[in-house]
Amino acid sequence: MSNNAHTHTRTHTRTHAHTDSHSLPAVTVLGLGAMGQALAGAFLAAGHPTTVWNRSQGKGEDLVARGATRAVTPAEAVRAAEVVVVCVVDYDAAQAVLDQAAGDLPGRLLVNLTSDTPERAREAAAWAEELGVDYLDGAVMVPVPMIGTPDALIFHSGTRSAYEKYEATLKALAGQTAYVGEDHGLAAVHDLSVLDFFWTAMHGLVHGYALAAAEGVKAAAVAPHMKTLAALLADVVDGTADDLDSGKFPGDLDNLTVEAANVRHIVRAAEHRGLDAAALRGVLTAADRSIALGHGADNWSSIVEGIRKPA
Ligand SMILES: NC(=O)c1ccc[n+]([C@@H]2O[C@H](COP(=O)([O-])OP(=O)(O)OC[C@H]3O[C@@H](n4cnc5c(N)ncnc54)[C@H](OP(=O)(O)O)[C@@H]3O)[C@@H](O)[C@H]2O)c1
Repeated sequence: MSNNAHTHTRTHTRTHAHTDSHSLPAVTVLGLGAMGQALAGAFLAAGHPTTVWNRSQGKGEDLVARGATRAVTPAEAVRAAEVVVVCVVDYDAAQAVLDQAAGDLPGRLLVNLTSDTPERAREAAAWAEELGVDYLDGAVMVPVPMIGTPDALIFHSGTRSAYEKYEATLKALAGQTAYVGEDHGLAAVHDLSVLDFFWTAMHGLVHGYALAAAEGVKAAAVAPHMKTLAALLADVVDGTADDLDSGKFPGDLDNLTVEAANVRHIVRAAEHRGLDAAALRGVLTAADRSIALGHGADNWSSIVEGIRKPA
């Protein structure tokens, strides 16, 4: 969406969300769940005039005590700010909130920090464009206690000029704020890619402990070895990225056939103890498909060919 296309509307409607040249932009946070409260708290801590709204009453009392203004409706909240952040449970909820303030959004920057899929982000962007609203989609990558810290990471995608204009404001929420592109779906793409790795690994961590426990070994006894392995992962992350980007899977040091046999051992041992092994069976299915496609002598990264051709 072009920033310039809506300059007139913006100039026209920004009069009562006013931010003068000596103060920080006025912000609104719609949604005061755990994350919304943290976002509003970070804006307050950074000195932004902050308005908050939540569907149910009783949330955010401490924010009001710290100086936030509570709005009675989403529209009232939107009118109070130059930058409007929405952070609710999902995009259906976000849309339900934004529909109540649609007439007041043009002329302000809308930043949607609700997590969802790339397609939902693009649909929301199309809705915003139709309204003539500058829109950034975002994905919060850190837990609540990290919001407002230098190490916090939030991805943003969408209107570049809007991001650049409000980057300092957005950095009040996360020191590592990163702009990942004009396509509004890209924040969610980065979010889901990273979390795909995270949740699969978290499943593996718990599954590995459960396998040890099923054999009478405490998780604490295995934990140091889990950490040794985790320390190797940073290099594996880079090497695998090189393999995927180049499409080359040199199998001189390890190969998919041997690694798949290792996975098969884990599946057998887990099922022998009555544990669920569905996730690892899925890994094996992809590996076997890749081997059938001719990648048995390539390295582990070549499992991607099996992932790309689901049954
Ligand atoms: N918590 C985290 O650590 C974390 C980390 C990264 C990303 N996120 C993302 O941040 C977003 C919010 O998460 P959260 O932890 O704040 O969730 P939460 O504590 O469960 O809060 C959910 C919020 O959504 C609102 N809501 C739900 N349905 C609604 C509807 N139909 N209309 C209007 N408001 C509605 C709730 O309002 P009521 O109070 O009225 O129910 C509440 O404000 C999610 O997309 C989540 O994936 C969270």
